[in-house]
Amino acid sequence: MRLTETADVWWKNAVVYCLDIETFFDTDGDGRGDIRGLSQRIDHLAELGVTCLWLMPFYPTPDRDDGYDITDFYGVDSRLGTHGDLVELITLAQDRGMRVIADLVVNHTSDQHPWFQSARASRESPYRDWYVWRDEPPEDADKGIVFPDQEDSLWQYDEQAGQYYLHQFYKHQPDLDIANPEVREEITRILGFWLQLGLSGFRVDAVPFLLETKGSLDAADLPDPHDYLRDLRAFLNRRNGQAVLLGEVNLPYKDTRTFFGDEDGDELTMCFDFIGMQKLYLSLARSEPAELVKALRERPDPPEEAQWGTFVRNHDELTLDKLTEDEKKEVFAAFGPEEDMQLYGRGLRRRLPPMLGNDQARLRMVYSMLFTLPGTPVLFYGEEIGMGENLAADGRNAVRSPMQWTRDPNGGFSTADPDQLAGLVVEGELSPEHVNVADQRRDPDSLLNWIKLLIQRYRECPELSWGKYTILEHESPTVYAQLSEYEGGAVVALHNFSDEPAEVTLALAGTGVGVRVADLLTGKTSEVDNDGTLRHPVGPYGCCWLRVLRPDDRYII
Ligand code: NOJ
Repeated sequence: MRLTETADVWWKNAVVYCLDIETFFDTDGDGRGDIRGLSQRIDHLAELGVTCLWLMPFYPTPDRDDGYDITDFYGVDSRLGTHGDLVELITLAQDRGMRVIADLVVNHTSDQHPWFQSARASRESPYRDWYVWRDEPPEDADKGIVFPDQEDSLWQYDEQAGQYYLHQFYKHQPDLDIANPEVREEITRILGFWLQLGLSGFRVDAVPFLLETKGSLDAADLPDPHDYLRDLRAFLNRRNGQAVLLGEVNLPYKDTRTFFGDEDGDELTMCFDFIGMQKLYLSLARSEPAELVKALRERPDPPEEAQWGTFVRNHDELTLDKLTEDEKKEVFAAFGPEEDMQLYGRGLRRRLPPMLGNDQARLRMVYSMLFTLPGTPVLFYGEEIGMGENLAADGRNAVRSPMQWTRDPNGGFSTADPDQLAGLVVEGELSPEHVNVADQRRDPDSLLNWIKLLIQRYRECPELSWGKYTILEHESPTVYAQLSEYEGGAVVALHNFSDEPAEVTLALAGTGVGVRVADLLTGKTSEVDNDGTLRHPVGPYGCCWLRVLRPDDRYII
């Protein structure tokens, strides 16, 4: 591996960990996690092998959308801490070789933001044109509503303003107008500010919505919103050559591809693979990886200087919007048959372990997939210990429970009264009594130690993060087989989606005489025939990471 690649293009083999400060660790006993709490617990993440923290919004907010409704893009929510605490956190992270990125939520502001307050108060306000106004809502005002359960239009009449404003999300989140050059300049300033404080980039919220200028009467001033994204990226990397934009783009593949920019990869550094994620669940439901394979074959390659972001779960519902109605039904039947597990027919407000009946072998296989699939793996806090959801919480908050540190009350997250906590603690089989960091640290067979192992091996295999991958053909329909190659090294990953044992026969081209494979997860070796044929068993929900060993290779297994 070329050394410059690991530092300058660090994100290619990063392990990203997303967390919300308010549900991570509370040090002042007010029931809400805080920045100091995260700093105190940062070694948990360093030991896990995380290389990049993604902080969910920590800005001042009325908190009507879990902080994605912001009233000051330059501020830190005083309930969470101060700028000083944040800089300390970033320094502590850097000491441990971790970078920190944060959510950049500039498609909209909170309606409590002083800009909107001023904009709605007068047509003469300097901020009036920062938002998108109309005297009458357009005819397609009800098309493309993101939260159909709560909203019935993208346009809201504002008494004070005497006009309608555009809001692609909740009505309390008026859209900023990026066709307005002043808005674009302000967004640049926001980026510059946080980069200067030490962030290494941003998870960009709702990118297609941000670039959408249809509603804007000034759209003509912005011929191609992608030019704007390109400018933003150029600015970012002028200020910090290693900084990244990790974009939330949930579109069909061919459209998502455009957000990476041209062949130089000059727009988003990474885009989440929402389709691959959804097809993974469909494949799990069918105990066969065929649908995932189909998706991966259709998935466009990102430019050389870009990468997909892979994930199993995140802080929102598990969206199934890219599946057909029948496919969606299959996933619901398998993983969320009860109505309150579903979110208005479009997804599941669940975490993975309860969806899989807490089947440890299957769970471990899925995470093994996450770390071998081509793309940068992104974990959501609590996944490393197998946390569940609390369906008693409202909507998407079901998956946003406090982190489970110990068996103590509130899972050791906070000393406050349970009814004062920032989220509902998980109950039942996956409650802190049964699932917590402290117990799993001491248990060599825990999920936590499994994920640590996966991360270690992933970091040791540039083939997985830097290499080219090929999906291998074979006769067993329940096994996903993938060859990853980089600079002469090769790793074959096998994953069995079924609870029945399987065996695969693979043709490994050009291997030669005396070749073996060694399973990086167990150390077990097997011979490869002289003609390159490898026969290998894969247990029920089994996974193997097979490093190809030629006679004079000198790897540590
Ligand atoms: C996407 C975020 O992931 C979600 O949580 C939020 O509600 C919307 N964007 C609006 O910001």
